[in-house]
Formats: sequence, C-alpha cells, structure tokens
Amino acid sequence: MAENPLQGLPRRVKVVEVGPRDGLQNEKGVIATADKITFINLLADAGFSVIEATSFVSPKAIPQLADATEVMAGITPRPGLRYTALVPNARGMRRALDAGLREVAVFTGASETFVQHNINTSIAGSIENFRPVLEMAREAGVRVRGYISTAFGCPYEGAVAPEAVKRVAASLLELGVAELSIGDTIGVATPDQVVEVSEALLPLAGAERLAMHFHDTRGTALANVLTALQLGISIFDSAAGGLGGCPYAPGASGNLATEDLLYLLRGLGIETGIELEKVVAASAFLARARGAAPASRYYAAATAES
Ligand code: HMG
Ligand code: MG
Repeated sequence: MAENPLQGLPRRVKVVEVGPRDGLQNEKGVIATADKITFINLLADAGFSVIEATSFVSPKAIPQLADATEVMAGITPRPGLRYTALVPNARGMRRALDAGLREVAVFTGASETFVQHNINTSIAGSIENFRPVLEMAREAGVRVRGYISTAFGCPYEGAVAPEAVKRVAASLLELGVAELSIGDTIGVATPDQVVEVSEALLPLAGAERLAMHFHDTRGTALANVLTALQLGISIFDSAAGGLGGCPYAPGASGNLATEDLLYLLRGLGIETGIELEKVVAASAFLARARGAAPASRYYAAATAES
C-alpha cells in the first residue's frame, strides 16, 4: 500500500486573518469605522495571534481604508494578539508607528505591470521605498512582513516564472523582512505551481518564514493549502467569510475564507488556537453591515436553516 500522504503535516498552523484589510479594501459601499472596529474586535475574540487590521496607504489609492488611524485607535488590544497593517513607504510607516503598530507589512509583486498599477513604481523602486521602512522598523523594534503578489500569475502579464518570485524574495529577505507572504493575487494557482514556487523559495527562506496567501477565485485555494502543508509550510493568510480582492487586480475575487481553512485544518487535526464558530459570528456581523452574504462555504453550511 502507498504511504499515507497526510503523514508528517505540520502539527500547528498560524492563520493570519486579513479580512479587515484585504477584504474591506475592495468594498464598493462604505463600511462605517465603528462597524470595522466591531468586526475586528469580534475576530480578536476568536483567538487569532495576528490580524491585519488596515492599510496606511494613500487614501486616494484606497479610500476604503482612509480611516486606518481611527480604526487602530478604536480596537481593543489583547495579550497574545498582534495587529498588523500594510505600509507602502516611509510616510505610511510614520502613520503606522504613530498609531502604535508593532508589526507592519510591505508589499510588492513578481510582475512589473501589476506592481506599477498597484504602487506606481517598478519592483526595484518598491524595494528602494521599503529601505527606510525597514530602518524605521528596526529602530522601533517592529516586525515586518513582506508580500509578493502575482507569484502564480499576473492579471496583465499572464504566467510568472518561479525565478522571478525568487529574485524578489531574495531582495526582501536581504532588506530584513521576518516573513514572506506569497500571494496568488488573482486566484489562478494549482498545486503543481505551489510545489514549483515553494521549491524555489524554501531553500532561501525556510518553512518558518514562508506564508501562503491564496485567493479562491477558481476554487483551488484549499487544494493549494493542502499541498503547501505537505511541503511543511505552516503559515496561511485568509479572510473571514472569504472577503477580498485587490482593486488593482482585475478579476481578483475573495481570499480563501478563514472558516473554510479552519474546517480543513481541524479535520486534519492541526491546531490553530482559533475558534471557528466565533469567526462565523464575526462574518455574520459583517454580512449584516455590508448587506451581503459571505462567500465562505463553511459559513453557508453552518448558518443554513435546517
Ligand atoms: P504615488 O501617487 O506614486 O505616491 O502613490 P506619491 O508619493 O506621489 O503620493 C501621492 C499622494 O498620496 C500624495 O498626496 C501623498 O502625500 C499621498 P497629495 O500630495 O497628492 O495630496 N501619500 C500617502 N498618504 C497617506 N499614506 C501614505 C501615503 N503615501 C503617499 N502612505 C502609493 C504611491 C504607493 C502611495 C500608492 O500607489 C498607494 O498607496 N498604493 C496602495 C495600493 C494598495 O493598497 N493596493 C492594495 C493592497 S496590495 C494587495 O491587495 C495584494 C495582497 O493582498 C497580496 C496578494 O493578494 O497578492 C497584499
Ligand atoms: Mg490579497
């Protein structure tokens, strides 16, 4: 008989909840600041160790998150939970430090056209913009994550070579990021690509510094998670309810839903420290605030009337 393919999976996984940022950056309607704060506090109740709460980006680029400072001032700090936020440049880092952040994330991509649309510079230009951010972080003792978008495909350029992802990863690690998050921005990845990209990055970063950030546009996100787990990767980004998308990535839809990810991990006997039903409660609150049902399959099953 063949060897059990589920043997040797990580025993514990860190789930980075990105719904309040990746989810809410893409909203068409306005979500009131007070509702964002309630949503984040409900997520905090569920037991996450990291929640990406907002972005300190240009309010012209992302008006949906222009209230970043107010959101950070309104949420309740908790022991064992770190809030994080996106920062694109020194200006954003200053705002994040003023708001009391102890972790931030810089973000670039593996394809030039996407990076140009998203942050109005080249990949090399983005790395230069991050240099002062990393310096400020070091001085303040703040942890920095580095996102690489379009690692599995670009909405403008199509296929992206794993070598291109590796080059950007090397630049970010050289700058001193503590963790890399590898983004399937438009949800095109299939497990064979997860193997290819991971094999390019694991020797560079090690599994302990590698996170996967899947969008579920084509329904392959959980298959990709299982593949990444089999490669020893144990950090995954997801969004409550399956919220999300990037306004600068046409065709991008929701992030992998946190509920669906937690259901898979629970079934596999992998610990997360997060209470699934409390994530459902946070999604239910936000669904009322948005006036739209979450995309999460687990949520739909859990809230269906019997
Ligand atoms: P720019 O226009 O080249 O920058 O934008 P600029 O320096 O010329 O500034 C333009 C204006 O913005 C100026 O204001 C600045 O002061 C202001 P004005 O003089 O015109 O009144 N500004 C700022 N204001 C507040 N905070 C700041 C800031 N910086 C400049 N930090 C910039 C370049 C990077 C700023 C802009 O393009 C931007 O903010 N982009 C953000 C885009 C974004 O957030 N995209 C979504 C997140 S990425 C994503 O979703 C992918 C991910 O989920 C992973 C995956 O799925 O792949 C992470
Ligand atoms: Mg994303």
